[in-house]
Amino acid sequence: MSNFDMKDYQSIVVSAEEAVKRIPKDANVWLGHISEPKALVAAMVANKEAYDRVKVWHLLRLGPEDITLPGNERYFLDKIIFAGGNARRALAAGTADFVPGYFHDVPKLVREGKYPCDVSMVQVSTPDENGYVSLGVNVDFGVQIVRTAKIAIAQINGKLPRTFGDGLLHISEFDYLVFADDDLDEIQPPAIGDVEKAIGEHCAGLIEDGSTLQLGIGGIPDAVMLFLGHKKDLGIHSEMISDGTLDLYEKGAITGALKSENVGKMIVTFVMGTKRVYDFVDNNPLVEFRTVDYVNHPVIIMRQRKMVCVNAAMEVDLQGQVCAESIGLWQFSGVGGQVDFVRGASMSDGGKSIITLPSVAVKKDGTKISKIVPFLTHGAPVTTSRVDVDYVITEYGIAEMKGKSLRERAQNLTAIAHPDFRDELTEEAARRFAEFL
Ligand code: COA
Repeated sequence: MSNFDMKDYQSIVVSAEEAVKRIPKDANVWLGHISEPKALVAAMVANKEAYDRVKVWHLLRLGPEDITLPGNERYFLDKIIFAGGNARRALAAGTADFVPGYFHDVPKLVREGKYPCDVSMVQVSTPDENGYVSLGVNVDFGVQIVRTAKIAIAQINGKLPRTFGDGLLHISEFDYLVFADDDLDEIQPPAIGDVEKAIGEHCAGLIEDGSTLQLGIGGIPDAVMLFLGHKKDLGIHSEMISDGTLDLYEKGAITGALKSENVGKMIVTFVMGTKRVYDFVDNNPLVEFRTVDYVNHPVIIMRQRKMVCVNAAMEVDLQGQVCAESIGLWQFSGVGGQVDFVRGASMSDGGKSIITLPSVAVKKDGTKISKIVPFLTHGAPVTTSRVDVDYVITEYGIAEMKGKSLRERAQNLTAIAHPDFRDELTEEAARRFAEFL
């Protein structure tokens, strides 16, 4: 018998407008990841005159520009650990702050105060008969920000699924509750072209039966999954899953039966896709949502035998240094979980880490830019180091890096570059290595 009665919490039920008035004018406010509490954010933007550079900390945000709109820098200082489309203009203009950091480290840095957190704003499901709400489709660091903040505000969204794993909080852990139902943001499956298909097929060739997979979102991960339908007993231990993973599951290729830990379960820290994915994870014990300091911790990842991770890159230089997060000095996204999984997979028994990229980026005027480059673009950070990198794949093939000398790396990478750029890369390699060719 439960003692929970929602009536006991009526005193902390407020409107969104009321809730955001309690935010101190220069506080550090943390937003729940991706499926953020939209009603609270909208109320905060409407209440902006009351703030004096409130720091808004977040990773990926979907939706239009709001906090970062020009002029709002008087009221908000956006602190971005992973940028989406709505943050890039402010980053380019220098009106928002970028904070480099690994995804798995977020809960620890919040706990230790290096990522200060005075106020947390998260979205949760409706309470169950015992008063527990679920963080739903984004468990990652939500538990930690709620438990660290001096003021914890929840938007109770009746449309949010309840999920299994670490994402359960008791309603008594919040200071204010705002009831507002909002649709979840949906990401449609990307178009998969011939380049993605070729890359996917190369990747699939490296993935053995019984492997456990981490695959990000986007055309290339989905293309990889197109070629895995005939594999047996694959497992999922991945920062996130989306619609492509469900297709593969429905083909019977994913059983998790040979996982070293969490046998039979898909382990994720968030999901992002269409309503189909959100319905799939609702009240489904097959998918366990664990906090990101578990899912993305290299020490946890390495415990899976045959762990294979597939991630994307902006550019790779001839030494195998990977930039996955910026175009020169222009911060485009963030390190996210890439290095977490690259390191974890490299340490796993039989593990492989794969960096994928089309051989060229095509500018709006049709100009091709090689993504295999002699030097990273001026100002670009190294996301995955030349020591950590393992396999690099373009539509032209697979370049092995582990155990290879700088000369061999240059050779292997030139061979998978776009043919239009191979001469230029060969010339640069010849300048460095007498015996190139
Ligand atoms: N030079 C100039 N422009 C480039 C470029 C280069 N070397 N590489 C890409 N671009 C441009 C593209 O043309 C595209 O421009 P557009 O938006 O005008 O079409 C844009 O940059 C984005 O490139 P795209 O290849 O479409 O990116 P993506 O959406 O596939 O994302 C990453 C690729 C690398 C940014 C993304 O995977 C990422 O952020 N990775 C780091 C985090 C991570 O790996 N997390 C773990 C997995 S969840």
